[in-house]
Amino acid sequence: MCGIVGYVGKENALPRVLDGLNFLEYRGYDSAGVAYFTNGKIKITKEVGRISVLEKKLPKDIYTNMAIGHTRWATHGEASKINSHPHRQGKFTVVHNGIIENYAELKKELKKAKVKFISETDTEVIPALLNYYYQQEPNILKCIQKLKNKVTGSYALGIICDDDQDHLYATRCGSPLIIAKAAKGNFIASDVPAILKYTNKYYLLDEYEIAQISMNKITIYNADLKEITKEELTFAGQAESILLNGYEHYMLKEIHEEDQVFLDTFNYYVTDNKFKKTMPHLKNYRQIHIVACGSAYYVGLIGKFLIERLAQIPVTVEVASEYRYQENFYNKQTLVIIISQSGETADSLAALRKAKEDGIDTLAIVNVIGSSIAREATYTLYIKAGPEIAVATTKAFLAQTTLMALLAIHISNRLDLLKHFNGLEQKIKYLLQQDYRQYAKAIYQEENIFYIGRQMDYALCLEGALKLKETSYINGVAYQAGELKHGTISLIKENTPVIGIATEAKVMAKTISNIKETKARKAQVILITNQDVPDKCYDKLIMIPKVHEIVSPILTVIPLQLIGYEVAKLRGCDIDKPKNLAKSVTVE
Ligand code: M6R
Repeated sequence: MCGIVGYVGKENALPRVLDGLNFLEYRGYDSAGVAYFTNGKIKITKEVGRISVLEKKLPKDIYTNMAIGHTRWATHGEASKINSHPHRQGKFTVVHNGIIENYAELKKELKKAKVKFISETDTEVIPALLNYYYQQEPNILKCIQKLKNKVTGSYALGIICDDDQDHLYATRCGSPLIIAKAAKGNFIASDVPAILKYTNKYYLLDEYEIAQISMNKITIYNADLKEITKEELTFAGQAESILLNGYEHYMLKEIHEEDQVFLDTFNYYVTDNKFKKTMPHLKNYRQIHIVACGSAYYVGLIGKFLIERLAQIPVTVEVASEYRYQENFYNKQTLVIIISQSGETADSLAALRKAKEDGIDTLAIVNVIGSSIAREATYTLYIKAGPEIAVATTKAFLAQTTLMALLAIHISNRLDLLKHFNGLEQKIKYLLQQDYRQYAKAIYQEENIFYIGRQMDYALCLEGALKLKETSYINGVAYQAGELKHGTISLIKENTPVIGIATEAKVMAKTISNIKETKARKAQVILITNQDVPDKCYDKLIMIPKVHEIVSPILTVIPLQLIGYEVAKLRGCDIDKPKNLAKSVTVE
């Protein structure tokens, strides 16, 4: 969602802020803006659309030591110049990521104090409040501190004040923010990729902490304005890991990293067919709730089947945005597992906090190190996918599925199954090398595509259908194969595209009959399977190497991802940045 970058230093701030915003493009946005000081005066430039549009509007010869920038994903008010950030009131200029829930009430209050608002945004109340407090006592740190008890919702804020042109200020609650230290200046940013071109040293800002940042110094205060020392973190990967490296799109690059991501995740937890100490003790839990959103939720469905089959523990899988509002029948032996690539998804974070409030242990499966979900869970297990830039998740899905399978083995103590992971990277490589364009060509002009399968194959159908929806804007719809005959089969007619997935031995015969039912109605069937099947039931066939069911979903998802990619390419879509979508959904 919205991205924040700020810089104060000896070098020109604007190109650094714009570079950072470009690296945050993957978060999704529909307008962008910057604010900077020149000759002691604030300048603000905002534009609807891409950062390149904004860049064209900025004077070429500006040299400034401090700037803040923002990419906005519209929530309150349409994508327009006025609603874009930075927002300014009085002496304060602010960029914001998150949602101010009580903004209407605050606006009402501030209007009584003669404050005039020009945008429809929730954000504008923040500079207005800061300016209001500043008029009462001109102490910037104290003004920022007061936000804590006044504002409800989530925020990461970059703040500058006309009266202090040497310092950039930042604070957060609920939305992520890092502070980074470079050789000739310092940064604030929503995420690490924004600063990697200049530095890999950074600090994570915790809830309500306030950073006061000058050219040479970063001072961090806790909520009581006591100066604190933070641990300096180093991003271990190469900056190149977030560059395209010759691939046309991040989505394709990230899919092609999957053999390595699998190995890195597996080797992080297992050595010599035994678990390392990186796995927590989880054997006393008698009931598991898996909570997540989007693709991470589908990984949860795969996890349910694996854990229930191996460990005989009941598992329910819930969409995070529903979880906190429903009755959850847990007890002290319940473990709540939250799956999230970004570790910042607002719905998943809220579900985690709800479980914690209820005294329930939580386990987070996360990619982004130090993210909110990773930090707040009782146990955290990282997947080793590296930075994922494309909005459509691919390598993180594969790594999460790998880790779910390892978790099922760990909980059930079925160490004998670890041998099925050996050499799987070669099979992943084999699938990555196949040409999926012929399948894409068969379906890319369709508007509705059916995915059918049972059990874990159904979870994979959901993922395949989502990949298609989000990157190609085709209505991919997943059905449990056995459910078709209870209504949906009425939609199948001549040439209706159906992608059937049949890899689960237990339900193979039944799934094949369901696929035949669609073929009998002249559907155009692409079958993904790992067994020889009667050739009358498909038009095109994708063979997956036959492996144990514990690792089978890790392979089956690859053709689904690559078909999604190839279809989007044939339709000329903006593959890495689909419309209306954000990489990390930090609003509920
Ligand atoms: O960062 P998270 O894993 O918590 O994100 C969850 C979903 O928003 C995410 O999986 C989304 O569905 C992806 N765009 C799917 O490709």
